[in-house]
Amino acid sequence: MTASLHLDPSRVVAPVSRRTFGSFVEHMGRCVYGGLYEPSHPAADEHGFREDVLALVREMGVTLVRYPGGNFVSGYRWEDGIGPVEERPVRRDLAWHSLETNEVGVDEFMRWAAKADVEVMYALNLGTRGVQEALDAHEYLNHPDRTRLASLRHANGVEKPYGIRMFCLGNEMDGPWQTGHKTAHEYGRLAAETARALRSAEPGLELVACGSSSSSMPTFGAWEATVLELAYDQVDYISAHAYYEPVDGDLGSFLASAVDMDHFVAGVTATADSIGARLKSPKRINISFDEWNVWYLSRFQNRATPAEWETAPRLIEDTYNVADAVVVGSLLISLLRHSDRVTAACQAQLVNVIAPIRAEPSGLAWRQTTFHPFALTARLARGSVLNIEVNAPTYETKRFGEVPALDAVATHDPVSGSLTVFAVNRHQADAMPLSFSLAAFDTPFRVAESWLLTDPDLNAVNTLDDPDRVVPRPIESLDLTGNTVRLTMPPVSWVAVRLTPGQ
Ligand code: AHR
Repeated sequence: MTASLHLDPSRVVAPVSRRTFGSFVEHMGRCVYGGLYEPSHPAADEHGFREDVLALVREMGVTLVRYPGGNFVSGYRWEDGIGPVEERPVRRDLAWHSLETNEVGVDEFMRWAAKADVEVMYALNLGTRGVQEALDAHEYLNHPDRTRLASLRHANGVEKPYGIRMFCLGNEMDGPWQTGHKTAHEYGRLAAETARALRSAEPGLELVACGSSSSSMPTFGAWEATVLELAYDQVDYISAHAYYEPVDGDLGSFLASAVDMDHFVAGVTATADSIGARLKSPKRINISFDEWNVWYLSRFQNRATPAEWETAPRLIEDTYNVADAVVVGSLLISLLRHSDRVTAACQAQLVNVIAPIRAEPSGLAWRQTTFHPFALTARLARGSVLNIEVNAPTYETKRFGEVPALDAVATHDPVSGSLTVFAVNRHQADAMPLSFSLAAFDTPFRVAESWLLTDPDLNAVNTLDDPDRVVPRPIESLDLTGNTVRLTMPPVSWVAVRLTPGQ
């Protein structure tokens, strides 16, 4: 059991897209209310947003946030969330069987996003709504002045347009659970017409058509083909969503979830390119992987619909263990590897709801295990992604057959010369000695920092009482002699090694 990597600075996949480190805020459970926003909390700012949560969002290195849903958006009326708060209506949210108070709307969220220094990817409702309402939302958000809705924004205290670039044309419209679910043909036509109208208002927008809500959907592939046949010229991205969990305790397959993500990206890319070829279009459609994460979905699906309509109920507050964090690290490796086509990605979600950050009412906010690989990757992945060759032993999985036990990606910043290698050992029993040569680089390197995320107890978690039970630690086994880096990766572990030019 040994693995090696072949690194070559000339084998560049693409620049690291900063939008790879996106997240997702949905009006769902306690993501917004009781997560980002809790006016009575001692750490709340003058607008009711928690500064302690915000500090963790900044530390995590989130660059982009998709908002306001999710399934929620398919029944949402954006105008309910503007103007005087006391006049805003309380509505039913059918997606999550909850009550939406509209206390936080787009103006509040955009103020929070500016403070967090994140770009917003705004999702439009194409479930219960259509072209006109999408145009209205765009006019309120982005039109500079004089029109009715731009004037309304001014009256609500926001002089300058928000200048949002990325808009999602609906959410998971392929899913029968979606309010206003459509066939691929119905949706493709609506997406094309909405996009055409939005572009007439503002040509430079970046528009995301809904792809499949998972690669296991029966319509996967056919959905993308039909939607893109109808909307190819009007959109820039097709979305992909994927959630992973250990099914029936099958940890081996779960640890190899990134193999599925690789196939998913390859399938969507091939489908998009085949439509482009058929349309004789020089344009290339990229992928917005705007929902991905570990989610113990079967637990949620097995629960009964609550009898009561509650505001911000505790929903899908999964507590993540060490194995989950290693999978999150490996999914980030997959996303980076595909940086030539996946140029935006959002981990779903940001706070409390299947989130890397947890927050208790009137209490502390803390980092889940999954926070760490995200934060380290967002901070250390710089410059260009390198297409590296991985030589590793394999193991057999129930879901994906034989898979490499080790996976890795590297980024190289030609300006600073810094090189970072991210790797995962998915093997449950065997430690993996890993080596790679730096000979192809024109410079000697020194180790600037190295991080290992693992634990003999794969079920270890971070909790309110023990928030730092699982943290990354420097790699003790790391050795750089001559041009060769050597380390040993424990079973089920994730590492990041940053090298900088120097002796
Ligand atoms: O992130 C939770 C939900 O998962 C989103 O609302 C939906 O888009 C997806 O099915």
